[in-house]
Amino acid sequence: MKIKVLGSSAGGGFPQWNCNCRNCDGVRRGTLKATRRTQSSIAVSANGEDWLLVNASPDLLAQIAAHPELQPARRARDSGIAAVLVMDAQIDHVTGLLMLRERDTPLPLYATDAVWQDLCSGFPVAPILSHYCGVEHRRIALDGAPLVVDALDGVQIEALPLSSKAPPYSPHRHAPERGDNIGLVIANPHSGKRVFYAPGLGAIEPHVLAAMREADLLLVDGTLWTGDEMIRLGLSKKTAADMGHLHQSGPGGMIEVLDPLDARKVLIHINNTNPILVEDGPERRILAEHGIEVAYDGLTFEL
Ligand code: MLT
Ligand code: MN
Ligand code: ZN
Repeated sequence: MKIKVLGSSAGGGFPQWNCNCRNCDGVRRGTLKATRRTQSSIAVSANGEDWLLVNASPDLLAQIAAHPELQPARRARDSGIAAVLVMDAQIDHVTGLLMLRERDTPLPLYATDAVWQDLCSGFPVAPILSHYCGVEHRRIALDGAPLVVDALDGVQIEALPLSSKAPPYSPHRHAPERGDNIGLVIANPHSGKRVFYAPGLGAIEPHVLAAMREADLLLVDGTLWTGDEMIRLGLSKKTAADMGHLHQSGPGGMIEVLDPLDARKVLIHINNTNPILVEDGPERRILAEHGIEVAYDGLTFEL
């Protein structure tokens, strides 16, 4: 089983088009040791030819261009992306669905009922796509049964409900529903290896910790170093918690959560303000001391 990080940044990307924070300005000018990143997405394959796209980022076309293995070129019109799974209905995870409209068959889309509702109302990508390729909703039931994805022969996927937030345009933004956000356990029964993937992880609930303990690879929320990072920089009024993300440093942060766990630990969905993007900076050194890596676009795992 292969997992490719197509986009390791949070919404906005790195650098963000209108941002002149130290990181964005520094990477743009080349004065900072840091690497550009596109917005949040991974791809999973069992055979190296058919892929499940997990989250469809606004940067999807650039990501496809950067990863030739997503274009096996078997027919006049073709793609290695056999199906898409979305973990929430946030702009950075669903906008790329519009970029797949030229398909000649309806797009198989795995989503919970809560996310599907958002995609039919607050962000009506499903009704829009019905005028193009159409979307075939495959329901993520959250009943504990493994999800069967045709294109991923043998790979087992389990979706875990996470307590987080629906997007601002969701009809249930202020009345959270089970399934607004999910985490995934992706397992290869042949190798016995398991991945836990959660780019938005606001709280470590007991069922989440249990799944994290069993994982060989943790790909988890690396959005912000401190809860009030964007407020202190004068860039937002929202804390990490307001956005459904867990900060990394300090008491109760992600470093503390990861410390006792045995798995390979990789932060993903990194916001452009996060000081861990500076490759020779002190925060990156702290992560290294705790055995924690920072995902980058193109990082590939074989499990
Ligand atoms: C989030 O996860 O909070 C997003 O990155 C927000 C966004 O896409 O604007
Ligand atoms: Mn996001
Ligand atoms: Zn920035």
